[in-house]
This record gives sequence, structure tokens and C-alpha cells, in this order.
Amino acid sequence: MKLLAIVGTERKIGNSILAAKYISKQLGSDLEILRLTKMDIQPCKACYACLFGEECKIEDDVNDILKKIDESDAILIASPVYILDATSKIKALMDRGFMVLPYLESYSKKSCIILTFHGFKDMVGWASATHLTLARFFGFNVLANLEVNAALPAEIFVKEENLKKLDLAARLLKEGGRHREPDQCPVCFGTIFRIENGNLVCPVCNSTLDFQLNVIEASNRFTAEWFVKHFGEELRGLKEKFIAEREKLMEAAKIVES
Ligand SMILES: Cc1cc2nc3c(=O)[nH]c(=O)nc-3n(C[C@H](O)[C@H](O)[C@H](O)COP(=O)(O)O)c2cc1C
Repeated sequence: MKLLAIVGTERKIGNSILAAKYISKQLGSDLEILRLTKMDIQPCKACYACLFGEECKIEDDVNDILKKIDESDAILIASPVYILDATSKIKALMDRGFMVLPYLESYSKKSCIILTFHGFKDMVGWASATHLTLARFFGFNVLANLEVNAALPAEIFVKEENLKKLDLAARLLKEGGRHREPDQCPVCFGTIFRIENGNLVCPVCNSTLDFQLNVIEASNRFTAEWFVKHFGEELRGLKEKFIAEREKLMEAAKIVES
């Protein structure tokens, strides 16, 4: 098995990288660590070329990253909370997410575990939801979304509860199955919720839940059917709409001139 760890932190002996090495050792797998902080990930230019089967015009490392994912058997997103959210390179990669279109079928077969490291239990924020969104938008088969409390480098190995989480991650990748933490969205394993019309809505998968997290209405976001509709109709449709309405929109933009 080839395990690919997507890591968005600079620390070489940090918790994210050490956790990836521990899990790989448990699995007896090959491990490649994708250190996003060392990679060139430019902003999306919103040209939509990739949605119409064209190569992305931006010359950076994103094509290589997508190929590396394609060549792996399983994915670990192992990365910390920085100021309540994921680190910037994680979001930078996610912003290029339209480029996954040709890979979606292959990526749907990649088992994925998310490990989000945080230094303070009361500052866990929503990074795990951002990591989950990356995993879901890339179409991975998410087995668990685990938050791990460890602040100092290697602190992950000091706490028994953390080692149990890493062992669980390795076991799921080896034997299959899914693990949902009690307070997570039952549909997608999301960790934060919005309140809308007196119910909870999971902002990651868009399912509606009651306050005991029973599903009122499950959304089909991130299913194979949804990807076809979103990429094929909704996103491509936006480009067609822009072409059709370009003159009117450019006219409207003139409001800020003179
Ligand atoms: C710039 C910066 C911001 C951080 N922000 C938070 C935070 O908002 N909440 C939190 O719980 N931990 C925060 N931390 C702590 C890290 O999440 C924690 O040290 C984590 O273990 C780092 O992972 P790593 O060792 O893999 O780099 C922050 C650390 C740094 C360096």
C-alpha cells in the first residue's frame, strides 16, 4: 500500500508528520509526505478552462500533486489548526479543486483519514471542517475525521488517547470501516453547524439535522450524482451564462467608473 500524507505545516518533527510516520509504520506501507508548505500553489485564475477539459495554464506544482494523489492507495490529511482554521496552503490547494474533475472516479476509491492537530482544546476552531471539505471536494472515501490535542512537537506520542486515535486510523485504513465521533454530522463527519429555520445545517454536506443530530434531510452533495450535476451543469453553465450576459455585465460594471 502507498500512503500519501498531505501536510500543511512547516514543522519537520511536528505532530502531523510524526503521526503520518506512525500510521505508515503500523500499516507496513510506503509513505510519501506531501509538504504543501514547500510547494508552489498559485491562486486559481477562475478561467474555467479545466472544467472544459483544457490543461490548467498556471505553471506550478498542482498538476504534480494531483498525479501523486492518483498514484496513491490511501490519503492522510494530517495538518494543524492555525488561528482556528486550516493553514493557508491547505486552502490554496482546495481553491484549485476544479482541476480534480478528470480524477474524480479514481479519487473516489482512495480511503482517507483526516487528522487535525490543535494546541488548545478550547481553540479547536473549524480547521477539521476545512480539511473535511478538501477531502470531500476531491471525492475521497472519508473513513474518519479525527481531532487530536497536541501542542508541542511530538506531544502526540505522550498522550494515551492520541495513540488510540492513531491506532484507530491505521486500523480503518487496513481493515476498512468508518468511525464517526458522537458530535459529528452523521452524513459527512462534519464538525460545525449553522442554525437555519430552527434546525442545524451542516455547511460541509448541506444536510439538515435536528439538535440531537438526527438527519431531517440528507443532502446528496459530494455523491457521484452531485459531482456530475455540479461540474457538468452548474459550473459549466456559469461560463455559458457569462458569455451570454457579458455585455450586460460589463455595462453594469461601469457604475464604478467616472
Ligand atoms: C501560527 C500558529 C497558530 C496556531 N493557532 C492555533 C489555534 O488557533 N488553535 C489551537 O488549538 N492551536 C493553534 N496552534 C497550535 C498548533 O495547532 C499545534 O501546535 C499543532 O500541534 C501543530 O502541528 P504540527 O506540529 O504538525 O505543526 C497554532 C500554532 C501556530 C504556530
